[in-house]
Amino acid sequence: MAKIIDGKAVSAKVKEQVRKEAETLREKGIEIGLAVVIVGDNPASRVYVNNKKKACAEVGFNSYEYALPEETTEAELLELVEKLNSDGKVNGILVQLPLPKHINENAIINAIRPDKDVDAFHPENVGHIMIGDFSFLPCTPAGVMELIAETGVDVCSKNCVVIGRSNIVGKPMAMLLLHKNGTVTICHSRTKNLAEICSNADILVAAVGKAGFVTPDMVKEGAVVIDVGMNRNTEGKLCGDVDYAACFDKAGYITPVPGGVGPMTIAMLMRNTLTAAKIKNNMV
Ligand code: GUN
Repeated sequence: MAKIIDGKAVSAKVKEQVRKEAETLREKGIEIGLAVVIVGDNPASRVYVNNKKKACAEVGFNSYEYALPEETTEAELLELVEKLNSDGKVNGILVQLPLPKHINENAIINAIRPDKDVDAFHPENVGHIMIGDFSFLPCTPAGVMELIAETGVDVCSKNCVVIGRSNIVGKPMAMLLLHKNGTVTICHSRTKNLAEICSNADILVAAVGKAGFVTPDMVKEGAVVIDVGMNRNTEGKLCGDVDYAACFDKAGYITPVPGGVGPMTIAMLMRNTLTAAKIKNNMV
């Protein structure tokens, strides 16, 4: 039977550390600000953005929301990013993805100042992550690393399998596991023998975006199973990529959805925003 990794509890710990540090900075007259930009009315994005604003309030950051209509042009969004780049009150800029189809996401990401890029999506920050010399960790993979650390399982020399190769999760996730000396395999839609590869994983990270994708035959006895998925099942209920009930007895540790990786992503965003403020004030 698996032990449940409590993402809410770990995220509360991280946010409390951030809150305390932010308080110390405030006593020195330094306020911390995060700008959150949302374009259009994607309901999932709206929930994420609201949660990010709520977390800012919890840790004592100022949050500045820019909710723009679906018809916003790329030029208009670039203009806003430029304005935020030069706004001294803004330490971090987060443009919620996905953006409407008529806006080139890469053009927007590339326009964000790397030292305010608290998502760590800018190519300069991605390069830093690749090299292993970074200030900002990508939020979701960094949150997953915290959850793995919480189990006490050492990543060094473990077989780590990441299912999914997105720029937001799969690729940076693989890098962070590699930096901890894991033996890392990235699986994706064209992978052959996926179940067999996964069933050899000591640490399995699922970031596929398909409800119930990971079944017990893909889970090694006692493995750490981390579920990054955030899907709705046919009844509209939130669920991950892992068939949680079916895999529960086989895994050694497992994250629930909700209450696993989701709260960690936001906690790591708060940590990155704090880091941005510390860098700006020569405190790192
Ligand atoms: N959309 C889904 N996840 C994320 C994230 O971590 N950051 C941003 N900006 N958009 C997202």
